[in-house]
Amino acid sequence: MNNIVWHQHAVTRELRAGHKGHRGAILWFTGLSGAGKSTLAGALESALHERGVHSYLLDGDNVRHGLCKDLGFSADDRRENIRRVGEVAKLMLDAGLIVLSAFVSPQRAERELVRELVAEGEFIEVHVATPLEVCESRDPKGLYQKARAGEIKDFTGISAPYEAPVGAELVIDTSEGDLEAQVGRLLDYLVSGGYIS
Ligand code: PPS
Repeated sequence: MNNIVWHQHAVTRELRAGHKGHRGAILWFTGLSGAGKSTLAGALESALHERGVHSYLLDGDNVRHGLCKDLGFSADDRRENIRRVGEVAKLMLDAGLIVLSAFVSPQRAERELVRELVAEGEFIEVHVATPLEVCESRDPKGLYQKARAGEIKDFTGISAPYEAPVGAELVIDTSEGDLEAQVGRLLDYLVSGGYIS
């Protein structure tokens, strides 16, 4: 980058993390619309909050009300959506937070770019692998019905692709088991990996 030099400030990430008593990480929830990403990430955030862990939940629908409100659902716009969110998540990680990020993020390459933004072990991919039939039967926002009727174009799983992760750290199908058990699996992963105690 021309004429732009990184400024190393005195308060480092390690110093910030020392105040928090836990390691930072990005938990990246990816999956179809209606798979349960927001529900799972929200329940995990509540559990982390109860334990005094500093976290922030970046949620697709919410981010598209502000930071990404200029973007639609073409492949290019989704790519830019994930690029921006990845950079924001990285800043939050630098601030020492456990970042929960819930986006369809259908393109494998874009998710891998976010993984590469941070150090090994700091990007934890959670594939919310609820089958399409279940997501479509839930249809909480009526979007599948509209997509089937051709009223929404480029709808993930119907008229736009979803590239499932190949090496996700965790795979959770929310049509199996209950939410408490699923949150328990996520917490166990964070404890056994030394992110939280
Ligand atoms: S992406 O692909 O990561 O950029 O999408 P994201 O920012 O997560 O936004 C997904 C939510 O937007 C709604 N929505 C759509 N999803 C997929 N495809 C199309 N065409 C679409 N149009 C609107 C939908 O409610 C998604 O929310 P979730 O919570 O995933 O159901």
